[in-house]
Amino acid sequence: MTDPRLDSLLHACPGLRLKTDPADLEHYGRDWTRRWTPAPLAIALPGSVEEVQAVVRWANAHKVAVVPSGGRTGLSGGAVAADGELVLSLERLNKALDFNAVDRTLTVQAGMPLEVLQNLAREQGLLYPVDFAARGSCSIGGNIATNAGGIRVIRYGNTREWIAGLKVVAGNGELLAFNKGLIKNSSGYDFRQLLVGSEGTLGIVVEATVKLADPPPATNVMLLALPSFEVLMQVFSAFRERMQLEAFEFFTDRAVQHVTAHGAPYPFTEIHPYYVVTEYASADEAGEAAAMAAFEHCMEQGWVLDGVISASDTQAQQLWRLREGITESVARYKPYKNDVSVRISAMPAFLAESQALINGAYPQFDVVWFGHIGDGNLHINVLKPDDTGDAEFLSQCEHVTTLLAEVLHRFDGSISAEHGIGLVKKPYLESTRDAAEIALMRGVKRAFDPHGLMNPGKLFDP
Ligand code: FAD
Ligand code: MLT
Ligand code: ZN
Repeated sequence: MTDPRLDSLLHACPGLRLKTDPADLEHYGRDWTRRWTPAPLAIALPGSVEEVQAVVRWANAHKVAVVPSGGRTGLSGGAVAADGELVLSLERLNKALDFNAVDRTLTVQAGMPLEVLQNLAREQGLLYPVDFAARGSCSIGGNIATNAGGIRVIRYGNTREWIAGLKVVAGNGELLAFNKGLIKNSSGYDFRQLLVGSEGTLGIVVEATVKLADPPPATNVMLLALPSFEVLMQVFSAFRERMQLEAFEFFTDRAVQHVTAHGAPYPFTEIHPYYVVTEYASADEAGEAAAMAAFEHCMEQGWVLDGVISASDTQAQQLWRLREGITESVARYKPYKNDVSVRISAMPAFLAESQALINGAYPQFDVVWFGHIGDGNLHINVLKPDDTGDAEFLSQCEHVTTLLAEVLHRFDGSISAEHGIGLVKKPYLESTRDAAEIALMRGVKRAFDPHGLMNPGKLFDP
């Protein structure tokens, strides 16, 4: 151990697990963006809340910045440690603490992977409904810090809706308990909700009490092929009017090209310009009849060219793979990701403007569109050609994002629908939040983190 500060850390927190091998610094110092070169001071892996507090108190005494770290599946650089920070990994704090059948809540440590939490809920005959492809590696603490969305927001909302209580080690090392599992609590500011989406800038979530829902209904999955972008929202309205939708996601032919090259089976004989994968309640004949009515209406209107309905769980999973496998299938191209949202009512006009902008701006790049269209959330992934340098690629993408941010500002949209601001979208925060709001955010940060040591430089600059 070379840095003398680490001796003093171990003195302040005897028995703390620390990693300093170069491979560990690299592994824990970056997230899925892979844009920044990891350069953390060390990795601390506390095994108790008391150790988290001791590390944060030590960081205050020595003015060392701390990066809270979950599964590092983040797509905005929020968990990146590229500037001598101490990474505080929650991975050892991953245990279930309590299930309350009357309250229908689960209390878990923040490092628990999302999928483990989902399975615990299922074992109790209940549902933790936040869900997306990184479920196996992302942590509930990271989900809370980013207010993660995913594929079932249309039915169940974001992570925010499911948090009944939080324990947080604030920037000064104090342990705070927010809301304590209450359903009703009109006793002043709701700090629990303030922590949701705070991206590690206010403190470290160490424990969460999550609400559980009724088990999901029997569902079916339908894949639809569409002729154009313009009909997307019409198809959405036709389906939403007739059925209980559990998910409504879209992607393009470019996405299909990548995801099938990555092994996903493709059920149609032809490639079509656009696709929707939708999951809907099908427990009774009425559910199936409504789905068929929506499908036939869309076919008659010429909005849908082809379709397939899952005949088994295996086929449902295969259809989902076409959508859920996209991120992994394009990862090798180090995509520049826009993750934007507008109100659903504004989506048709926004789609037209953003598509014109992106098509004009990137004639030379492969652009993969997909996302949670039923929530007004588009993912636009620009893939880096192998023969274009990182810096040149980034500078073009950042220029286009500035233009996209102007469009979003006019539409009252958001530059980050669900991935968070982190480092990637920090330059564009003003397109979504006005100056007075950002000043308030800075004030909130000062109250929670007086020395500015919790994930500094993420979300906004000091
Ligand atoms: P990390 O990446 O480790 O950290 C994310 C942020 O949270 C950082 O700012 C970090 O400092 C902070 N943080 C982490 N843990 C804590 C804690 N305990 N206390 C305080 N702050 C903390 N996101 C979606 O919203 N919807 C999707 O559909 C979706 N799909 C994805 C699919 C794939 C294949 C991948 C790779 C990512 C996807 N993501 C999606 C993005 C990512 O999985 C989410 O942002 C997730 O919530 C991050 O969790 P994590 O534990 O990996 O957090
Ligand atoms: C998704 O919806 O698949 C995720 O948000 C991941 C991504 O945007 O790449
Ligand atoms: Zn998404």
